[in-house]
Amino acid sequence: MQKKRTITATDGANQQVECDIAIIGAGPGGYVAAIYGARQGKKVVLIEKGEVGGTCLNRGCIPTKALVRTTEIYKALQEASRYGCKADGIEVDFQRAMARKDRVVAGLVKGVHSLLAGNDVELLAGSGMLIDEHTVKVSQKDSEILVKASHIIIAGGSEPAVLPIPGAREDFVIDSTQALELSELPDSLVIIGGGVIGMEFAFIFARLGVKVTLIEYLEEILALIDSDLTQVVVRNLRMAGVKLHTNAKVTSLEKGDNGRALVHFEDAATGEPFTGVAADKVLMAVGRRPALAGLGVEDLGLELNPRGQGIKVDNTMATSMDNIYAIGDVTGGMMLAHLASHQGIVAIDNIVGRSSTMDYRAVPNAIFTDPEIAVVGISEKEAKAQGIEVKVGRFPFAGNGKALTLGMSRGFVKLIAHPETGTILGGAIVGPGATDLIAQITLAVEHRLTAREVARTIHAHPTLPEAIMEAAWDAESGALHLAD
Ligand code: NAI
Repeated sequence: MQKKRTITATDGANQQVECDIAIIGAGPGGYVAAIYGARQGKKVVLIEKGEVGGTCLNRGCIPTKALVRTTEIYKALQEASRYGCKADGIEVDFQRAMARKDRVVAGLVKGVHSLLAGNDVELLAGSGMLIDEHTVKVSQKDSEILVKASHIIIAGGSEPAVLPIPGAREDFVIDSTQALELSELPDSLVIIGGGVIGMEFAFIFARLGVKVTLIEYLEEILALIDSDLTQVVVRNLRMAGVKLHTNAKVTSLEKGDNGRALVHFEDAATGEPFTGVAADKVLMAVGRRPALAGLGVEDLGLELNPRGQGIKVDNTMATSMDNIYAIGDVTGGMMLAHLASHQGIVAIDNIVGRSSTMDYRAVPNAIFTDPEIAVVGISEKEAKAQGIEVKVGRFPFAGNGKALTLGMSRGFVKLIAHPETGTILGGAIVGPGATDLIAQITLAVEHRLTAREVARTIHAHPTLPEAIMEAAWDAESGALHLAD
């Protein structure tokens, strides 16, 4: 039997709890910090108003990947004849796909509960609000609990941004959370925003048979990623039937006949209006904002980043006030689950007196489009913008035996190296297994390996990582499995 560690106040009563570290928010930032803090011998209280696992586990990374898997299976079955298999009458059962997604999430949530209990972390259900440097007030349904702590970590996450345009609150508008809760597929969907969330959902819904139109304000989708990578994905996006409008600004949403949405948009440069698009639903994916409301951050006087974009922290994750740290999306930086977890570890290290700082040179970013994109370190685009001279090594998956056997040979690996020392400064992959493969380049960037060292590492054959080895050869003296 597992020990139950959840604190609840007796109805109506106020209670006080004392601990070493109080953490607000049990997402991948907060719950990892809690486990790690407890393992350092600290008494940790973890405060959560929703479900443990936060956005990533309940409304983001995990449920979307469960649906991506459904689309992969569906696509593979549709293409079965290419592989010498017969599969007729293939259909998607959306309700079952959603139920599977929910089961995957529920299993992981249960796992996090077990981890917390197993590490003696006290889980406190309720909304946490900062009172002073050592106190968090936790509001539950009928009572309040005061948590007194030597240190506090704020890990309150983020929420979807809403465009300040007419019609943005109409009932046909959904955000990424609501998109994951649909009980049936809409016939048609307009996605506003061609960032990470917009692109992942565009593939999911288009592959499930929804007529998708994607409208992006900037010249290119996934604007931070090098265009040679995004081009590979755009081709597949169009082949999946998605109508893509770039350089296009959505200006208003209107309820048309039968309650359907009419999306008005214009040329982002000239302001010339385009013909509006009608759809059953509109998915707004125009970024996320730090979730500061109700935390008491401003009343306490914690310094924020310029334009109120998150809690200001230094590279030890300390805020402007003694004893208070902040990690993850609430700090307004790169909103990535794995980064939040790492920041949590750095914060705990500093709290327990082990000096530790964040190093952002090697933060991988994984995007689950088709094919996948993954990047780490400096990009070719950034190097050019910053006037940094780099050497680029490339290798196409078309020259990789494993990719050819998989029937997934579109895409390539790109390594960015220092022109003299050959030190790997960054890397990017578009193609099969990109989001898993990026770990190898991340290790190389983190530990300053050279292209020569990667090229001279024996890679198992036939495997996809050989493409990384060949890109390293290319940066060094030329890829071996590529004619000049
Ligand atoms: P985003 O910032 O990546 O993209 C939003 C897009 O909306 C931008 O390209 C922007 O130009 C566009 N946009 C803004 N206003 C517009 C308008 N009026 N008309 C048309 N387009 C407009 O934000 P997104 O995709 O919502 O993601 C939010 C956060 O979540 C990001 O920080 C992202 O890194 C993170 N995330 C990461 C994932 C991953 O790493 N796999 C998955 C999902 C989210």
